Amino acid sequence: MKAFSHERAPDGKNEWLTPPEIVQALGPFDLDPCAPINRPWPTAARHFTAEDNGLIKPWEGRVWLNPPYGQETIKWMRRMREHRNGIALIFARTETRTFHECVWGVADAILWIRGRLTFFNVDGTRPKSTGGAPSVLIAYGRENAGRLHLCGLQGRITPA
Ligand SMILES: C[S@@+](CC[C@H](N)C(=O)[O-])C[C@H]1O[C@@H](n2cnc3c(N)ncnc32)[C@H](O)[C@@H]1O
Repeated sequence: MKAFSHERAPDGKNEWLTPPEIVQALGPFDLDPCAPINRPWPTAARHFTAEDNGLIKPWEGRVWLNPPYGQETIKWMRRMREHRNGIALIFARTETRTFHECVWGVADAILWIRGRLTFFNVDGTRPKSTGGAPSVLIAYGRENAGRLHLCGLQGRITPA
């Protein structure tokens, strides 16, 4: 049995779109390096999709990162750690290598979101069930840490 039940997205693919009110509260962003090919709404001024492979493209400006899940997450978080400008949304799995390599003592602030988010399907519909774990917003760069304090989303903010 998996520790978390969110390994598959509501639509059966690895999509799990960010609730739009989260991006609205924290944006605008210059780049979403991992966006759906057919997205129901923008998350940034520019998007890379699986067709571009945003993992190997140059990242510029303020990045919104809700990365592919499972074993892929750490690759994207390593890029974010190097880029150091943006906000990432991942599950609050504080024991993982991703957290130890890319969050603790590396990022600038963490917003521990109250409750559980309901991620959207790639067609823009909202599933009935929430994600199977709590989520965190992780700020890289002092300006992005400041944005966490101003965003009005419910939760607790701590240093990383
Ligand atoms: C968790 S979803 C988040 C989508 C979007 N960033 C958001 O915040 O709503 C991860 C996205 O990464 C996309 N993806 C997967 N591999 C990718 C790659 N190599 N390059 C760019 N995007 C990729 C998936 O198609 C999926 O839409």
